[in-house]
Amino acid sequence: MPELPPAYIAPSLLSADFARLGEEVRNVVAAGADWIHFDVMDNHYVPNLTFGPMVCAALRPHTDALIDVHLMVEPVDSLIPAFAKAGANIISFHPEATRHVDRTLALIREHGCRAGLVLNPATSPAWIDHVMDKLDLVLLMSVNPGYGGQSFIPHTLDKLTQVRQKIDAWQAQGGHPIALEVDGGVKVDNIAAIRAAGADAFVAGSAIFGQTDYAQVIRALRAGIAQGDAQYRSLSSTS
Ligand code: DX5
Ligand code: ZN
Repeated sequence: MPELPPAYIAPSLLSADFARLGEEVRNVVAAGADWIHFDVMDNHYVPNLTFGPMVCAALRPHTDALIDVHLMVEPVDSLIPAFAKAGANIISFHPEATRHVDRTLALIREHGCRAGLVLNPATSPAWIDHVMDKLDLVLLMSVNPGYGGQSFIPHTLDKLTQVRQKIDAWQAQGGHPIALEVDGGVKVDNIAAIRAAGADAFVAGSAIFGQTDYAQVIRALRAGIAQGDAQYRSLSSTS
């Protein structure tokens, strides 16, 4: 098995203080975050309501970090130009929330953003098989979307390994890199196992914003990722 790609930590603003969002973004990036995960909920695809492109545009000047937009909306296409204009770098959506998955992925790239597909806990990894050429990221949900602070669903680890194998096979044939991100219930005490299963980007909402010292949590998450790397290497050498 090839080495895992570098790891990225993406704090979810869902658990940040909404009254101080700009400051929260600056603080969490100063504390070592790589990406800002921006959870967009519409009270239709999911039973909750958060923020849209205007809030993304307002936050854009506060950081150079990548803004990783996770659309939990239905329909999807009409929001893509607005998020691209608002400064999003990555835009991911749930395939069952759009009518033409291939077309929506292409639309995101046409607007200059990286395109991602999000798979819910019960959604089959087969959804990615015929769109690898248009994918920059696969986001595996390890909770049902809609709320922060839920518990990690353990069978996501098997799914992570399956998707890692699909991405490795794609790259072995000369395909471009595709990131593998996990979202929901990621904590200091389970991130090593999640890394060892093959993830390279880690969303963490309540684990980071629920604490007073963001830098300390991010250091602990990175230490867990390093443990996961060691586990992954020892698994590779025995397989
Ligand atoms: C859930 C969101 C997640 C959520 C993660 O629908 O997509 O990004 O904020 O929160 P934690 O890390 O608290 O599970
Ligand atoms: Zn999310």
